[in-house]
Parts: sequence; C-alpha cells; structure tokens
Amino acid sequence: MANESTTKTFTVAALLAIVCAIIVSLANVSLKDLQRQNQTLDRQTNILRAAGLVQPTEKVTGAQAAELFKKSAAIVVDLQSGEIVPDADPEAVEADKTNLRPLDKADDIAGIGSVPKLGVVYLFFNDDGTLDAVTLPIVGTGLWSTLYGFLSLHSDYATVKRLVFYDHGETPGLGGEISNPTWDRKWEGKIAVDKEGEPIIAVVKGTVNPDAQGAASMVDGISGATLTGKGVTNTIRFWLGDNGYGPFLKKLRFDEIELPAPTADRKDEK
Ligand SMILES: Cc1cc2nc3c(=O)[nH]c(=O)nc-3n(C[C@H](O)[C@H](O)[C@H](O)COP(=O)(O)O)c2cc1C
Repeated sequence: MANESTTKTFTVAALLAIVCAIIVSLANVSLKDLQRQNQTLDRQTNILRAAGLVQPTEKVTGAQAAELFKKSAAIVVDLQSGEIVPDADPEAVEADKTNLRPLDKADDIAGIGSVPKLGVVYLFFNDDGTLDAVTLPIVGTGLWSTLYGFLSLHSDYATVKRLVFYDHGETPGLGGEISNPTWDRKWEGKIAVDKEGEPIIAVVKGTVNPDAQGAASMVDGISGATLTGKGVTNTIRFWLGDNGYGPFLKKLRFDEIELPAPTADRKDEK
C-alpha cells in the first residue's frame, strides 16, 4: 500500500492502538502484585514511624519492615467492650467494610459517621518482652479533608510516643503541616489522657506557654491552620475516648487484660 493511502494510515493507527493497549494491559496485570506489595510496605512503614522504630524520612525494605514487625503483635479489639478478640484475623478485620457501627451526631466529634466494631491495634515490644508502644490507627476530619494517621502511646497508655499523619488533603503549608515531622515531633511526651483515662490533649492556637496549667497536654498550633488543628484535636480525642480505643486502653492501664506475645514468639510456639 502507498504511504499516502488513507486505508494504510487507519490500519497502522489501529494496529498501533491494539499493540499499545496490550502492553498497558499486560503492565497493569503484571504490576498488580508489586503495587499491592508497595501499598503494604507503605502502611507498614507508617506504622513503624508512628511506633518510633523508623525515622520520619527513612525508607525501609520489605525485609527490614518484616524484621521490625517481629517485635510486634497486631491484635483485634472489640472497641465497645475494650476486650481483645483472640482468634480474629487482623487483615480480615481491616478489609471488612461491613464492620461498622453508626455514630450519634453528639458522639461523632471526629466527623467520621461510623466507627469499626472491631479495631486493629499494634503492640510493639522491647527486647526484654516489655511493652514499648501501642500504635492506634486514627481517622478524622480536618478543614477540607479526611485525615488518616497513627498515634502511638508509651506503655503507660497515657503519654504520646509519636503521631504520624500519612494522608490528608489539607492545604500545603497551612493545614498540610500536620504531616510535617517537625510538627509531629511536638506531640512526643505530651500527656494525652488524665488519671481516669479521659482524653485531655489539645492543639492550642499559637505556641504553648510552658508555665500554663495543663501545658503538658497542649501542643503548639500551626499558624493559619486553626481549623485543621481543631480537627486534629477532635480526631485524637475521639479515638482515645469511649467510642474509640478508650475502653481498651483503660483495661490495659488498669491491668484488666493480658497482652499477647510478640509475633515472632508466637510463631516459635507453634
Ligand atoms: C486558600 C486557603 C487555604 C486554607 N487552608 C487552610 C487549612 O488547610 N487549614 C486551616 O485550618 N485553615 C486554612 N485556611 C484558613 C482558614 O480559612 C481559616 O482562616 C483559619 O483556619 C483560621 O486560622 P488562624 O486563626 O490560624 O488564621 C485556608 C485559607 C485559605 C484562603
């Protein structure tokens, strides 16, 4: 066929489109596993960052993450009763989209509409088997968007170890600073709950006056982002409160439940 032929132009274009479609489809199918692995690694890295085992900008490989997770246990908790559900599979619970209880408006300070009936909590242990941190998935509403993060408490179940927000749609440079490690670090060592286990931590407007009453439970606000800060306060108070992990944390704090062993120890037992 002559190069000027319309039929030839359309035939070449059609063949090219088919070849490209095949290449894209193959790439999509063959990369699915890799995408899934990357998503898992991303989630694991954020959990490890919140637990303080990986530094904010540090990257880890799947093998390194797996090694660090050996000192942990993912457990399923009935959020309303605060009891551990021993035989539940954490991955299945996280994937179960029906695992939800609607919230009354008055209880829904995080603006999330519903809360899981079963929650997954990560426990991290020291080499001597004592608890290092308990890491809690949290979600709430900022000014513009849903905020996703992890909050870790020390083994007193009251003091913040680390806070990480890994996904949100707040304005970069304003509310978006909630995922800036410099701001997240301001949470370290803050007292999140009072002696009865009720949430008291709050982001304030401006800078915390260290001499103010309750300063140990206050975190510097982000300038120009007061509303995102309020969203963060409400999110954290919700998850530490009675409709979040509060009943579980109180049981742990007042020695009413026993903790499982780290993942590696449990595998050794089998
Ligand atoms: C384009 C634009 C983006 C904004 N993004 C945020 C934001 O992400 N978070 C926030 O709290 N306030 C944001 N604000 C400011 C709020 O509208 C509001 O003025 C502010 O939260 C009040 O806080 P301030 O007292 O610290 O200024 C934004 C304002 C503008 C004009």
